[in-house]
Parts: sequence; structure tokens; C-alpha cells
Amino acid sequence: MEYQCIRVYRPESNPRIGAVQLNRPDKLNALSLQLMDELISALEAFDADPDIGCMVLHGTERAFAAGADIDEMADADSVEMLLRDQFRKWERIAALKKPLIAAVSGYALGGGCELALLCDMIVASETAQFGQPEINIGVMPGAGGTQRLTRIVGKALAMELVLTGRFLSAQEAYRLGLVNRVAPVELYLEEAFALASLIASKPPIAVRLAKEAVLKAFSTPLELGIEFERKNFYLLFSTADQKEGMHAFQQKRLPQWQGR
Ligand code: COA
Repeated sequence: MEYQCIRVYRPESNPRIGAVQLNRPDKLNALSLQLMDELISALEAFDADPDIGCMVLHGTERAFAAGADIDEMADADSVEMLLRDQFRKWERIAALKKPLIAAVSGYALGGGCELALLCDMIVASETAQFGQPEINIGVMPGAGGTQRLTRIVGKALAMELVLTGRFLSAQEAYRLGLVNRVAPVELYLEEAFALASLIASKPPIAVRLAKEAVLKAFSTPLELGIEFERKNFYLLFSTADQKEGMHAFQQKRLPQWQGR
């Protein structure tokens, strides 16, 4: 597929990483319908590619993404928005099986913040700013912001961010556990690729089942989540990589993963 709003590549440092750059810099990577279609298609293609171990999504230094495209929504009515249901397909990003890391520099606002929160981890540059400023344009978060943000930062702060539109700095986001690490702007992408490389070097089926189990913590009561975890743990004993990993440990050598 030819992409117009994104750039899809594999970094030279590690071709097992699938990278996507949001590429509408003149619009601060506003998340148009076309951009989101392209993004979901590219991520799903990487997800299905056995040569890819981890994915990284980033924007430019100035903006990860400044939100859903206001120009596409400004004159729409409720029925049009309901029929378009543009945010439903965003959940396909949450359903990806391989880990997805957001590398965020500059603005991650509105849908941009929600998109980063859909990713499994966030590496931020020191310039990153996270926020849900929809209140300032007469609406509210519509792609998971009131739910995912609240689960991470808690009720009081989520309420403040959603009702005032205040931005969080990278350091504040780090202290709150919203981002995994903060790096200088010239290094944040490298830092995200280093984290992705480390994950891509692990046994892929264990990575997949472990990711699935961690995500269950957001959607199930504790007992069901624990049961789900236990079953995934037992399931891994059918993989060649479990035998290899444990035998390599006993034989004091490095494991060779097969992804089976
Ligand atoms: N949708 C559509 N276009 C957007 C956009 C969005 N969410 N965010 C920025 N843009 C466009 C601007 O319209 C402008 O386009 P133009 O040059 O053709 O006029 C361009 O991106 C640059 O933005 P600009 O506002 O001039 O940059 P700035 O540095 O003065 O301000 C922001 C940056 C992020 C503070 C400001 O763009 C902003 O508030 N954006 C909207 C954030 C938002 O409310 N997101 C939630 C949407 S539901």
C-alpha cells in the first residue's frame, strides 16, 4: 500500500523493529481519517510479519500528534459522527499482538495523547507535552482519554486534565508512570529503538502472551486476570522456546530463540 500520511520503515540499527512515523508535519500530525487508516494498516502488517519483534510509532520533534483533525469534524453533526464512528477502529491498535512503543516529542494532545496511551509503552523527549485540551474547543476526549488516562493517573488528576485542558510535561508524566523514560530530544528516538530492540530479542510467543496478560489487568477483575495469566504461563510450556530457555539456563549458555 502507498502511504501519504505516514512513513513506514525498519531502522538500520535493527530490522526486527517496525517503525511508523506520522507524517503531516505542517498540521502537527493531526490524525485525519486517512492517516488513521494508513497507520492501522501499517501496524497490522508489521503485527503479521514474523520478522518483526516490536514496533515503534513516532512523529516529529515538534509534535507526536496534536489531536484528531479538527477540520474534518468542525462542521459535522452528531448523526454524521455516529455513522462515521471514527474512533472505533482505533481499538484495533489496542488489539495488536506485538508490543508497540510510542516515541513522543512535542505535542501529544487530544487524540495524540490517546494514541500514545493506546501504545504499550511511551518513551518521551524532554519537550513532550501530554494533554486532553478538547474542553477548549467545546468537546471532550472521544478515543479513550477519560478511561485510559484515569486508570493511569487516577481520578483527581484525570478530572483536572480533562476539565481544564492543562498539559503535563515529560517529567510530570514520568513521575506519574505515564511514560517509561525521558530522554533529551536528540536521543529519544534512539532510546525508543533501544527499548524495542531489547524486547525484539526476547522469545516472541512469551512476549505476546505476557503482553496480553498485562493488558488484561485493565479489563478484568483480579481473579479472572490471575487465572488468565496462569493459563498463558502453562501454555508457554508447549513452546520450543520454553524448553530452549530453561535448558540454556541449566547449561549456562545463551538461548537461541525460534519463535515457536
Ligand atoms: N486538527 C487540525 N489541524 C491542526 C490541529 C488539529 N488537531 N492541530 C494543529 N493543527 C494545524 C493548525 O491549524 C495549523 O495549520 P495552518 O498552518 O494550516 O493554519 C498547523 O497545524 C500548526 O498549528 P498552530 O496552531 O499554528 O501551531 P501553534 O504552535 O501555534 O500551536 C497547538 C500548537 C498544538 C497548541 C495548537 O495547534 C492546538 O491547540 N491544536 C489543537 C489541539 C487540540 O485541541 N487537539 C484536540 C483535537 S480534538
